[in-house]
Amino acid sequence: MTGLFITVEGPDGAGKSTLVSKLNKKLQDVLTVPFIATREPGGSDIAEKIREVIIDPENKEMDAKTEALLFAASRRQHIIETIQPALNRGEVVLCDRFVDSSIAYQGAGREIGVEEVATLNQFATENLTPDLTLYLDVDAQVGLNRIGHKNSNRKKDRLELEEVSFHNRVRDAYLILLDKNADRIQLIDATKSPNEVLEAAWTVLENELIKRNLIDTR
Ligand code: TYD
Repeated sequence: MTGLFITVEGPDGAGKSTLVSKLNKKLQDVLTVPFIATREPGGSDIAEKIREVIIDPENKEMDAKTEALLFAASRRQHIIETIQPALNRGEVVLCDRFVDSSIAYQGAGREIGVEEVATLNQFATENLTPDLTLYLDVDAQVGLNRIGHKNSNRKKDRLELEEVSFHNRVRDAYLILLDKNADRIQLIDATKSPNEVLEAAWTVLENELIKRNLIDTR
């Protein structure tokens, strides 16, 4: 038995969290099999502990390759403890970020190389690849404005604190990933209103669920 593995990706401020929580509700209503919603970095006890180290703004000394390794380590543990068991039970897994994030943020954002980061993640994931990825596309600066990049009162994680040039590289890398994986990654225009984004994402997701007979259409 193999379940369905769906991921949601996008630059900071694309509206992923809002979309994921709305998709959760819709999935719960229609699915004929159990499903879990999870996120990266994190998604299991050990992986959440690694998350704290990665995003802590105090960790200014962290080397870019250390960061990539920690994301991959956190991902490995998340797969072993959470994702793969659920897929083995035939469930639907909805995951907020996965390998594409590492390729975009560490490979391109940190400029340590998209190929290198892809190879590192092949080791960590043993090539576990999402069946479907919803990519929420928004201009990097627009995304940063939404999350109040320049607003000093808002608590930001270490990655969000990076300059706009970093976030531009992240977005450009996502667009290249989209181009190379057109059969897996579906582009959603994240400049639209939250409801329009939900509608567009749901249309894509629902098609996939119908195709796999995972939805109650009565
Ligand atoms: P996340 O919790 O998804 O934050 P947000 O909801 O604000 O997008 O991710 C935290 C940060 O970690 C975010 O800036 C993206 C970054 N990240 C990477 O750099 N590499 C990765 O592999 C992952 C999963 C996330």
